[in-house]
Parts: sequence; C-alpha cells; structure tokens
Amino acid sequence: MEKSRRRETLAVSLLFGLLLPCCLAQTTPSNAATRTPTRTPTPSPSPQTERLRVRLSGYPRKHNEGRVELFYKGEWGTICDDDFAIANANVLCRQLGFVEATGWTHSAKYGKGQGKIWLDNVQCNGGERSIDSCKSRGWGNSDCTHDEDAGVVCKDERIPGFVESNVIDAQVDEKQIEEVRLRPVVTTARKKLPITEGVVEVKYKDGWAQICDLRWTIKNTHVVCGMLGFPHERKVNKNFYKLYLERQKNHFHVHSVACAGTEIHLAACPLQFSKPNATSSCEGGMPAVVSCMPGPLFIQNKGLKKKPKISNNVRLKGGAKLGEGRVEVLKGNEWGTVCDDRWSLQSASVVCRELGFGSAKEALTGARMGQGIGPIYMNEVKCVGQERSIWNCPFKNITSEDCQHVEDAAVRCNVPYMGVEHSIRLAGGRTRYEGRLEVLSLDSNGTLSWGLICGETWNTREAMVACRQLGLGYANQGVQETWYWDSSNVTEMIMSGVKCTGNEMSLSQCQHHKTVSCQKAAAKFAAGVICSDTASDLVLNASLVQQTVYIEDRPLHMLYCAAEEDCLSKTAAQANWPYGHRRLLRFSSQIHNIGRADFKPKAGRHSWVWHACHGHYHSMDIFTHYDLLSGNGTKVAEGHKASFCLEDTDCQEGVSKRYECANFGNQGITVGCWDLYRHDIDCQWIDITDVKPGNYILQIVINPNYEVAESDFTNNCMKCNCKYDGHRIWLHNCHIGDAFSEEAERRFEKYPGQLNNQIPSINQQ
Ligand SMILES: *[C@@H]1O[C@H](CO)[C@@H](O)[C@H](O)[C@H]1NC(C)=O
Ligand SMILES: *[C@@H]1O[C@H](CO)[C@@H](O)[C@H](O)[C@H]1NC(C)=O
Ligand SMILES: *[C@@H]1O[C@H](CO)[C@@H](O)[C@H](O)[C@H]1NC(C)=O
Ligand SMILES: *[C@@H]1O[C@H](CO)[C@@H](O)[C@H](O)[C@H]1NC(C)=O
Ligand SMILES: *[C@@H]1O[C@H](CO)[C@@H](O)[C@H](O)[C@H]1NC(C)=O
Ligand SMILES: *[C@@H]1O[C@H](CO)[C@@H](O)[C@H](O)[C@H]1NC(C)=O
Repeated sequence: MEKSRRRETLAVSLLFGLLLPCCLAQTTPSNAATRTPTRTPTPSPSPQTERLRVRLSGYPRKHNEGRVELFYKGEWGTICDDDFAIANANVLCRQLGFVEATGWTHSAKYGKGQGKIWLDNVQCNGGERSIDSCKSRGWGNSDCTHDEDAGVVCKDERIPGFVESNVIDAQVDEKQIEEVRLRPVVTTARKKLPITEGVVEVKYKDGWAQICDLRWTIKNTHVVCGMLGFPHERKVNKNFYKLYLERQKNHFHVHSVACAGTEIHLAACPLQFSKPNATSSCEGGMPAVVSCMPGPLFIQNKGLKKKPKISNNVRLKGGAKLGEGRVEVLKGNEWGTVCDDRWSLQSASVVCRELGFGSAKEALTGARMGQGIGPIYMNEVKCVGQERSIWNCPFKNITSEDCQHVEDAAVRCNVPYMGVEHSIRLAGGRTRYEGRLEVLSLDSNGTLSWGLICGETWNTREAMVACRQLGLGYANQGVQETWYWDSSNVTEMIMSGVKCTGNEMSLSQCQHHKTVSCQKAAAKFAAGVICSDTASDLVLNASLVQQTVYIEDRPLHMLYCAAEEDCLSKTAAQANWPYGHRRLLRFSSQIHNIGRADFKPKAGRHSWVWHACHGHYHSMDIFTHYDLLSGNGTKVAEGHKASFCLEDTDCQEGVSKRYECANFGNQGITVGCWDLYRHDIDCQWIDITDVKPGNYILQIVINPNYEVAESDFTNNCMKCNCKYDGHRIWLHNCHIGDAFSEEAERRFEKYPGQLNNQIPSINQQ
C-alpha cells in the first residue's frame, strides 16, 4: 500500500569519530530498586485441598485478557457466557493475579475453546475467592456450545506478591510464614549490604522467630538464600555462632524443615510449627544460621577471591527493575526468546540463579516485559529447579507457527536488599511517580542531609536510573526545571554533572562532579523525574533493510524539495543544478513498537514544525540517524538527522491503529504497530555521491538522543555490513544492536569476515 506521507531529513554538520552509544555492547538495563527482599506471597487461605487453576487462552489476546479456562478433574474447560457479569470477571481476574476486571466478553470473542464447558449460569457476588464458590449450575452441567465461551479483560495491574497458581501447593495455605530475613549476629560498625549471613528468622503473626536447626540441611539453606536474592549458599562456622547464640533467648517457631531445594519459598517445604510458648522445643539444637553467596552484581569486595560467573547465554531484557525482564537465550550467534507454554517458577528460578539472582518471584507469561523481535528458540521448558542453566532443562524446539512473540516468557527474580531506594526521594509532584529529586548525602560536618541535583546534565537515562532506584519503574521523562513542583525546605544543590549510562543500580554509581558546579543553582532548576510502570520500545526491522536496499542515481531536477529539506550532502550545493544527479543509497525502514506503552513525541502539537515542501508536521526534530561508517567508526557519508511524521502504518493482528500523520493528526506509534518508511519516499536515503568504493557499515539509530523514554535502548541501533564497488551495493548481516553474541559482534566489526555463511544480497536499480 502506498503511503501518502513522506519522510524528511535535516542535515547536520559532520561529527567525525562520534560513535553512537547504543551500538556498544550493553547488558540488560539493570537497576537496584529493591524492595524488602523477603516480601513473598501471602497465600490466600483456601478451604480446598487443591486450588482451582484458571488460565486465559484464545486469540487475539493479551496477558491480561482472553477466554477463561478452568482446570477441573484433570481437564481444561470453558465457562458459558449465560448470565455472565462483571462480578464474575472480578473474581476470575483476582484469581489470575490481577487487581480487578475492566470488562468481560461473550460469544467466544477470543475464539472457541475445546473440550468441556465446565460452568454455566455463573453468578458471583464479586467478593468470592474463587469462581467455584459462585452460584452456577454445577460442574459440567451446561446447555451451551463453545460459541458462547466467556472471556475476561483484567486491569493490567498485579496483586502485589501474587504468585502464579501452579507454584505453591495447597499445604502452604495452612502455614503462616510470610517473610524470611537474616539477622546478622556480629554487628559491625558500618552495616554492609547486602546481608549474606545470619540467623534465619521467619515472620509470623506479630513477631519474628527462629528456626530450630535440628535436621537442617544445605537444601533448606539453598531455598532461604534463593528467597533473599542469592543464587548459592556457603558453609557456615556453626561453632562460632553456637557460643554466641546459646546466651540468647530464642523463640523457635518452626522446626523439622525438609526442603527438596527446588522450592521457591520456605513455606512450600515440609516443616512443622512449634507449639506456642515452647521456647525449649529445640533440645540439642540451635537457631538455624545460613550463609549465602551473592551474585557477581552484589559482591562488595571486588577482586576478592574468584568471582562467580554469570551465564553468558541467558539474559533479561526490557524489565524496569534489576532482576526482571523478558528471558532471552543465546543459540549459535543470535539471541532469541522463550515461549510461555508451561512456563513455571521452577524454570524461572533456574534462569534467575543462572544470572546471579535468587529464586524467581514470578514467572510471567504473555510478553509482560515486552516482546522480542528475533527468533523464538524454546517452548514448554520444564526445569526441575536444580539445573545449572535453562539449557539443561527439557524443552521443545519450536517453529514460528507454534508460538509468537506475544507469548514471550519473562521473570521477576528475588534480588538482595541493597537499600538504595532510601537514599533518594521525590518531592512536590502530583503523584508519587513524579517530583523533584532529593538525594541523601553526608555533608562536610558528617551529618546526613537531603539536597538537590543540578538539572543541567539531567536527561532520560539519568531519570531511568532514578526511577529504577526508587522502585517506580521506567522513566517517562527526565525534567530539567522543576519550578512547578516546589518542594518544601530542601534548597541546596549537592550533586551536579550527573551522567549515567542507564544501567546503574543507583545515581551514586553514575558519573558526577567531585565538587558541585551548577550554573543555575536555584532550586527551580533542580532535576526531577516522571516515572511510569510501562514504557515504549522501538526496534527496526533489520531484514527489511537488507531486502530492500539499492542504489539510485537520482537527477537533480527531482531533488529540489529534498535539497530544501537538507536531505543531501553538502557537496550538492556545488552541483550544477538542475543538471547531473546524486547517488542515493535507498532502503525501507519499518519501526516497530514492541514495548508496553505507546511511543509519543515529547513535544506537544503546538511546537510541531510545518514542513511546507513535503506538506506535513514534524513532531520530533531528530528521530533517526542514517549513517555510513568506515571500519574505524568514522562517518563517510553525511549523517542525516532524520525527522519523521510518526504514525501507525499497520499493526499486528488484533491491535487497531491510533496514530495518523495526515491532517495534523495525532502522532505516535501504538504498542504492537509499526511505522513504515518505504524506500521510495523522498529523503529515505543516504547520499553517497562522495563515497569511494569500499567496505563500510550501514548504521541506523532510532531515537538517538534518548529524547523519548523507552524500556530498552540497546535495540535502537541497527547495523549491516556494506560492500560498495562503485556500481552496486551489497548488504549483509543486518542486525539489531543487541541481537548477536559478543563474539559474533566482534567478527561483524572485522568485516569482511562473514557470519552465518549468509549470501550477500545484491541490489541495484
Ligand atoms: C504464653 O505466654 C503468654 C505470655 O508470654 C501467656 O499470656 C500465655 O498464657 C502463655 N500460654 C501458654 C499456653 O502457656
Ligand atoms: C532441537 O534442535 C536442535 C538443533 O537445532 C537439536 O540438536 C535438538 O536435538 C532438538 N531438540 C529437540 C528436543 O527436538
Ligand atoms: C558545619 O558546622 C558548622 C558549625 O556548626 C556550621 O557553621 C556549618 O554551616 C556546617 N556546615 C554544613 C555544611 O552544614
Ligand atoms: C524541613 O526539613 C527538615 C529536615 O530535613 C524536616 O524534618 C522537616 O519536616 C522539613 N519541613 C517541611 C515543612 O517539610
Ligand atoms: C520484517 O521484514 C521482513 C521482510 O519484509 C518480513 O518478512 C517480516 O515479517 C518483518 N518482521 C516483522 C516483525 O514484521
Ligand atoms: C578512519 O578511516 C578513514 C578511512 O577509512 C581514514 O581516512 C581516517 O583517518 C581513519 N580515522 C582514524 C581515527 O583512524
């Protein structure tokens, strides 16, 4: 379909030697907004011995909506829509871990189910804990067909601490262990975090109690360490503790713990509770003491001993917090995702521990951390929980027909408590997600006080770190002036020159001035943030660039408009207009939003710029960079800073378009949609008239200045090997910045070494 709109570029001066940071190898955006690490599920007490399992299926669905299916008598079945109401949907959504329902659907909106229709004429009051507590005709008693299958739409907000149902078995419900902590016995002057060793204490009703260590095993320790965010355990010197602990009064509450080691919560292990007031119920034993081995990210003493290694063939992408994200695995040279069928906490825990975190807090399905774009490698991963790597677990190979990226699996891991969220706070905002930043620091007199951050160098990536540190998710915006959030009495600037890569756990890890230097030192120019639970994530379709590339010698008389828009290199000014031509490297750009929020230009409509020649508004000055680089990274063709008129050209199945450029329409890219700039649109090119034959790298960077927040900037860059013989152009190995293994990326940079034995595509027009 031909697109009426055209895309333009704004030329800029050459920036020699400038390497764009997005193409540098980066790890998952990490962060350290840790909550109390011991917060784990508070299993809802349920009278049944086995909890009813509920799931969403059908198509097209999202993680929070779909056809309702119930597992009963060993079989999955559906619910008929007769008498269905929002109260039913509320009960079902809560059972699925969402706070409430926003709607429900009838007549098999998500497709027809199979097998039994388990329930019919269901009428809940809304407060029931489970759908089987509601009034209905009884199990399996229905006069419906699958054309009447009911569905629900749940609010995309999880019940805090909710654990997917297949995890903790029924026995847990009877027990009252909510939290577990380690109490260090030796209190050093300076409290070092994380706490890795100490007496295990469990919270019950209204206090903390110890566990009797009789029959305590290393497997129990493994489970405790996992809950506290540590992948492995260490031996403890029991004698050392014995001396000390014998003199203390202990309250034993739990004894005879017998974990298998694969549990994700102590409450899931067989154990017994002591009778009330039974302080001496641990005859011959002592309080259980454990020592955990933190993952490499949390080891304070760097260089001490040999560091445990983090897996280099598994990673997490797109998460807001440290230890959460979409699971990606490396196969051959390329990263791919995992399909969510049968995705469990046991499998998720293997991934978490492999990456240096503890066990998994949540195993997420339905691309809850955004969709990947590369291959999907695994399905039906079924780890026992002891495997060292997800690659050691049984799984099925899949084809693209089996699974789609809407089913990408993700995890939330237990991470150690580092306390970073207590050293910064927000003030003056309208909601708790925004405000002027205040940081805690020691002044010269040795007292702790709150101060402000100079706004001058403050931007999206700095805001990303701050939001992560605060535990508030992604950055929506980094704000340089905060006069409209006038906070109370903190007025002193105590931090300036802050520059982050975006991956830091806390602002203190970012670069900043040694002594404060801020030109506008007034509080109204202090840094602020707006944080958000979701973010967009743009990514370019690399294979389309490779498929559509060609050279065009375009006559100058057809390029007046392009010249006016600065889409040609500087030497075009010296050409003998209108005679002669420019040599253009052309290709199509298809930009997908695979994140969880729409991509919207930062500037409001009032500041959009009208481009008369092409007849439309530009909402972002700089939306992409198109560059041809030499082997050493210098630009050989003038870098265009292209600006676009953003819109939804098309969307994946089940998603409707929302943004349209024409007629001063709303600009943006909806989640699940893409914006296509065809190779034949004016200015969709690089002017290579002055480029000599040779081997180059074609590089495209989207949102290069981080102007609009995204959940992941490592995939904003796309690179190809490019061979130009003076007549024709070959592109190969086109890939997204984070798609290759490090080794493959190194080989790529050493062009013309070829990867994957790909056959170069030859294109000429
Ligand atoms: C347990 O101790 C509390 C006070 O510590 C006391 O009030 C209560 O009577 C005791 N219960 C038993 C069964 O001894
Ligand atoms: C999956 O495919 C790989 C090769 O791509 C093969 O080695 C492996 O045995 C396959 N596994 C299964 C379970 O089919
Ligand atoms: C340190 O203490 C002195 C004396 O109490 C005071 O004058 C000074 O302002 C203090 N400095 C800071 C940075 O608070
Ligand atoms: C002013 O700052 C002090 C010390 O940080 C704090 O205790 C007090 O509550 C603040 N006052 C107001 C009005 O916020
Ligand atoms: C990318 O482009 C290729 C080639 O046109 C196409 O087959 C593929 O579906 C596109 N990928 C996505 C995710 O749309
Ligand atoms: C990079 O390579 C180009 C030729 O490809 C050369 O002209 C330039 O001097 C090189 N720059 C550096 C910094 O090596």
